[in-house]
Amino acid sequence: MDVKKVLVVGAGQMGGGIAQVFAQSGFEVLLYDSFEGAVEKKIDFITSILDKDVKKEKKTQEERDKALSNIKECKELSEASDVDVVVEAIIENLDTKGELYKNLGEIVSDDCIMASNTSSLPITELASRYKNPEKFIGMHFMNPVPVMKLVEIIRGLQTSDETYQVIHDLSEAIGKVPVVCNDVPGFISNRVLQVYINEAISCLNEGVASAENIDTIMKLATNNPMGPLELADFIGLDTVKYILDVLYEGYGDPKYAPDPLLKNYVRAGWLGKKTGKGFYDYENK
Ligand code: CAA
Repeated sequence: MDVKKVLVVGAGQMGGGIAQVFAQSGFEVLLYDSFEGAVEKKIDFITSILDKDVKKEKKTQEERDKALSNIKECKELSEASDVDVVVEAIIENLDTKGELYKNLGEIVSDDCIMASNTSSLPITELASRYKNPEKFIGMHFMNPVPVMKLVEIIRGLQTSDETYQVIHDLSEAIGKVPVVCNDVPGFISNRVLQVYINEAISCLNEGVASAENIDTIMKLATNNPMGPLELADFIGLDTVKYILDVLYEGYGDPKYAPDPLLKNYVRAGWLGKKTGKGFYDYENK
């Protein structure tokens, strides 16, 4: 299968990054969001990133122009009838995603592959909501997408070998490293990462060390760019809690239960960087 045109649904942080990497790798990209103005805002952000890349001589002006000309706003999903692949990056809700796959199923061709960027919903169940479950797959990008090399590829029970191969090759074509994993709660990345983050939150809650010290210890101990609490703020504490809930429910093992401090922060609306307050204060930065 020769992939030329991709529809990215959801112009949030992940969808915008996904659109950018496809566009700068020479693919035609349609970017859709159900919120009025979201795509325009995201294209402005991508433009600012590409302008910075030109300034820093990481890209030529021509590469910047070409990448931007490859992204078009998709105003109505019906404009996407000729796409080869859809990458869905919308809200983590089974029914909302299922509704989208049903609608898109009536628009795209029977050959079109549906890839979900879900970080934790079961691919096998999502696949069952698409007209061709064998053409459904998990394509989990990491944030910030243009910077992070990994694409975690998750095969549902129904995913065909051909679908897997197309998405594997496509991930390489956009400069990423695809790594396959089975369809289990949290896949690999979040099953391991969120337990690490939760343990750091427990250390903070128990007063073992300050947030700064926990992060400095783990940054220097493991050569990570961010400590676990800073990373939790970056991901969003609501998302961290949500994924831990999925893990807890999926495995029934108390080791995945969100720490009470995390639950309280989410109740308070202290969700990390995006709300200006989490384990750190971002308001005056
Ligand atoms: N889009 C494009 N580029 C971005 C970007 C974005 N949203 N955010 C940062 N960058 C680029 C910057 O432009 C900058 O590029 P240059 O070096 O060319 O200027 C580069 O990344 C570094 O950024 P900064 O200098 O601003 O900041 P930094 O050096 O502190 O790096 C970071 C920021 C890249 C986020 C780094 O701290 C990092 O890698 N952190 C770890 C991120 C991580 O672990 N992500 C995975 C989260 S888990 C997940 O995503 C899965 C899930 O399901 C929850």
